[in-house]
Amino acid sequence: MQYDLISNITSNNTKGSAILGVFSDKSIENSTKCLGASDISKIKEIIKTSSFIGNLNQSLCIYDIPNKKIEKIYLIGLGKKEEYGEKKFIKSIAAASKICKAENLKNIYILVNSFINKKIEENWAIRNISIHMNGADYDYSHTKNKTKKQNLYKITKLTCVLKSSKNSKKVSVKKYFKQGEAIANGIKLAKNLGDLPSNICTPTYLAKTAQSLAKNNKNINVKIHNEKEMKSMGMNCLLSVGSGSEEPSKLITLKYNGANKNDKPIALVGKGITFDTGGISIKPSNGMDEMKYDMCGAASVLGTIKAISELNLKINVVGVIASAENMPSGSATNPGDVVTTMSGQTVEILNTDAEGRLVLCDALTYVSKFKPKHVIDIATLTGAVLVALGKVASGILSNDEVLTQKLKNSSSVSHDYIWELPMWEEFQSELDSNFADIANIGKRYAGTITAACFLSRFTEEYSWAHLDIAGTAWNEGANKGGTGRPVSLLTHFLLENAKSL
Ligand code: BES
Ligand code: MN
Ligand code: ZN
Repeated sequence: MQYDLISNITSNNTKGSAILGVFSDKSIENSTKCLGASDISKIKEIIKTSSFIGNLNQSLCIYDIPNKKIEKIYLIGLGKKEEYGEKKFIKSIAAASKICKAENLKNIYILVNSFINKKIEENWAIRNISIHMNGADYDYSHTKNKTKKQNLYKITKLTCVLKSSKNSKKVSVKKYFKQGEAIANGIKLAKNLGDLPSNICTPTYLAKTAQSLAKNNKNINVKIHNEKEMKSMGMNCLLSVGSGSEEPSKLITLKYNGANKNDKPIALVGKGITFDTGGISIKPSNGMDEMKYDMCGAASVLGTIKAISELNLKINVVGVIASAENMPSGSATNPGDVVTTMSGQTVEILNTDAEGRLVLCDALTYVSKFKPKHVIDIATLTGAVLVALGKVASGILSNDEVLTQKLKNSSSVSHDYIWELPMWEEFQSELDSNFADIANIGKRYAGTITAACFLSRFTEEYSWAHLDIAGTAWNEGANKGGTGRPVSLLTHFLLENAKSL
């Protein structure tokens, strides 16, 4: 997508459609400088006589604009001025991007000032406009027939119209636009990997995706460990999950080097279960198809590394993906089996459906060799997090208050929400086992916390946070599809931690 910044739509510009935000008081004074006087009076007249009252989610298309470069203007309702803030901004821009797609708009002028008030920072607004407009062309087409594939939507040019667009401003606005574009590209990769069925998106496919990221960026190096190599490293716990599957398990390591060699990396560790049947502790069949999304933690690691590599962020990041398929079969792990983890601790696998923690624990031990500054694991780990936080927030549990606070800050900037759950020592005894050092499940309650407690036994040496994204990584029902969360949160976090460009 081409991108430009101008202060006025004039006869020099190419023909396109404009997007204008309108509050419920119907005033459009914010944009008078960006449009001609006759355009403004035309819009005012139509607003006066139409049923458009600027409610949130309302929209109206206006034709016959005096400025012949503007084919149509789409009014987007922003609701009441007093109630407007970042959340409503994001909703309105998301609505606008859906309209652009539905109407197949290719050349778009967005009147930025009309969407901004005192509570909204201009650079933040540009980044978010870019995330949504660049994200609008996501279409799942991989397993659809050719005619569907041919009609893919693509915006050719997006022009931000801003009252004062001095040259110095052009540089900074472009920087925020690029950030949004990179985040959108990361989100689209994560959505696509999530949406792909498990007969395509296997552990081997995830490994190939990592390798193709490395091919396109010289700062990324990838190493794939196969089962034999994992065995010799002592990753029996990870291997026990894939032992029932025909698909070989993979440990995927991506190194992104954007900073000084000696700078300690931030490590992202993703759960990459490409399908979770539950194993011998098999899941009920209703809705089991959604367990193709059980690799969304891994997808968010790949999406985030794609985003930061496009931005050439001055930071070192290590991504580790623990990938396997959890199947029941003659060679599968049985409930009650005891395995020795890479850390030396033994685990009694009381439930083979609590497999995410089994692949993650060995990856979390492995990652310590990179001497990470922080480790963040991302996993569709528990159904219990849906009970606690619904589909709105990801759960965060951590052994480092400072890291937690940093992630909370990135969450409030990105609006990719997280909410903290406690990991007090009182919960740890739930994992006591009569036959091993640790059981892989707790008792009935606080399933998200006991899962994190299990992981905490493998993360004592470093600063660590765990994100449980089982509720946020995909949408159910008619909108079934990956969300790309928490790529935006993680990229915002890494932007904050990178050396300034
Ligand atoms: N992948 C699931 C978690 C999950 C469940 C995500 C539902 C999204 C929707 C995970 O591997 C799992 O099965 N967890 C079990 C743990 C239990 C056996 C302790 C769960 O949450 O039921
Ligand atoms: Mn499971
Ligand atoms: Zn799972």
